[in-house]
Amino acid sequence: MPSRSPSSAARATPSADFVVVANRLPVDRVVESDGQTGWRTSPGGLVSALEPVMRSNDGAWIGWHGNPDERLDAFTHNDLELVPVPLSAQEVQEYYEGFSNATLWPLYHDVIAPPEFHREWWEAYVAVNRRFADRAAEVAAEGAVVWVQDYQLQLVPRMLRESRPDLRIGFFLHIPFPPTELFSQIPWRRQLLEGLLGADLVGFQLPEAAANFVRLVRQRVGYKTQRDHITLPDGRQVRAKPFAISIDTAGFEELARQPATERRAAEIRENLGNPRQILLGVDRLDYTKGLGQRLRAFGELLSDGALDDNEAVFIQVATPSRERVDQYRLLRDDIDRLVGRINGESGHIGPQPVTYLHSSYPRTEMAALYRAADVMVVTPLRDGMNLVAKEFVACRVDGAGALVLSEFAGAADELKQAFLVNPYDINGMKSGMLAAMRSDKRELARRMRAMRKQVTEHDISAWADSFLTELRREV
Ligand code: G6P
Repeated sequence: MPSRSPSSAARATPSADFVVVANRLPVDRVVESDGQTGWRTSPGGLVSALEPVMRSNDGAWIGWHGNPDERLDAFTHNDLELVPVPLSAQEVQEYYEGFSNATLWPLYHDVIAPPEFHREWWEAYVAVNRRFADRAAEVAAEGAVVWVQDYQLQLVPRMLRESRPDLRIGFFLHIPFPPTELFSQIPWRRQLLEGLLGADLVGFQLPEAAANFVRLVRQRVGYKTQRDHITLPDGRQVRAKPFAISIDTAGFEELARQPATERRAAEIRENLGNPRQILLGVDRLDYTKGLGQRLRAFGELLSDGALDDNEAVFIQVATPSRERVDQYRLLRDDIDRLVGRINGESGHIGPQPVTYLHSSYPRTEMAALYRAADVMVVTPLRDGMNLVAKEFVACRVDGAGALVLSEFAGAADELKQAFLVNPYDINGMKSGMLAAMRSDKRELARRMRAMRKQVTEHDISAWADSFLTELRREV
């Protein structure tokens, strides 16, 4: 692997009192106007939530920088200490595209796509988790708090505890944790559970997920459990609790209120021929998101004549994702075909029923889309939380707009005033979309008010605070 330092100041290994360990660093590489490469903080909410904690605690973030076969020194960007972990091209294939995204991802999402089990993938997962754990062990100061993120790194807590028992270790799973029968399919189920048990606190999005984990530990590892507490043979206690993740609500609100955003929202409506209703979907192009079912439901509303072409249009933003994984390639072809069919059948000249955008957009454009929409359609087949639903609500500073939301998104636990639908039930989704489109303004405003209260009171910093407070609590 070639070794070089990025343009920002390269540093010797930092010594940090607060360490985040995640598969990805919170920065994207950009080419500046002078041709030099630099970094831009990626738009994710996690980094904005953890930034203040990192600044006040000499924090460091350990993660992959996104490029295979490249070693980089630790560096600072916007005063954040970033510690890149290298992955070879083969590890990207086996650890990231393979075990993380073709074994664990489908299995943890209700086996919507068949998970593949390959022993070489597992070995790569172990080796890469070891590398992350070793790097965290080097970077963490005596007694530091280390917060490990998500399904790609489930073995890190135990590996880290073995080398650094002085640390306080937390783990948060951003995706669903499957029911015991599904988890039990994994040939390496016990190692994964023991990996997580290296943490002092294991956080999940929903209470059911935490309960699934505790049950599995009791059944498969045989440790004593009492409600959300697990007692290990050496007497150490591990807690498993829900912490529903959220967004930078104030940040989205501020963006949504800007005159430029309002102007752009009006322009979007104009470009679509000022239809009476704009439905909007925004997702990574992932088979868990239920894009096909949702578009089919919309297509049927048009072909049934329940909606006429001039009445409603659908904008679907599908951000490219994991494009080298087979299931994602197949999905892309399916969605391309489906959109082509719906638009082809519309049989009229003018704006198409479905505007399909296979691309990613900056936050400003997303805020304008959220404001331009009448009905936001978020219908995953299974989703840990779904932050798009919360972003939409945060951006509706005008108090208008309707949310159609899948019962199988974690967000449905909190956004109860959405039009809740079962994404497997096409007729039910059609009725949900129609109900959202036909509800009167006062009813929509009442629902939106309640949902906005929820995302205002429970934003991403409240999430991070509650996790870290619980992690630091002595038991
Ligand atoms: C989900 C996962 C994250 C992941 C993100 C993007 O939200 O929970 O861990 O980073 O998808 O996927 P990618 O594979 O591009 O990192």
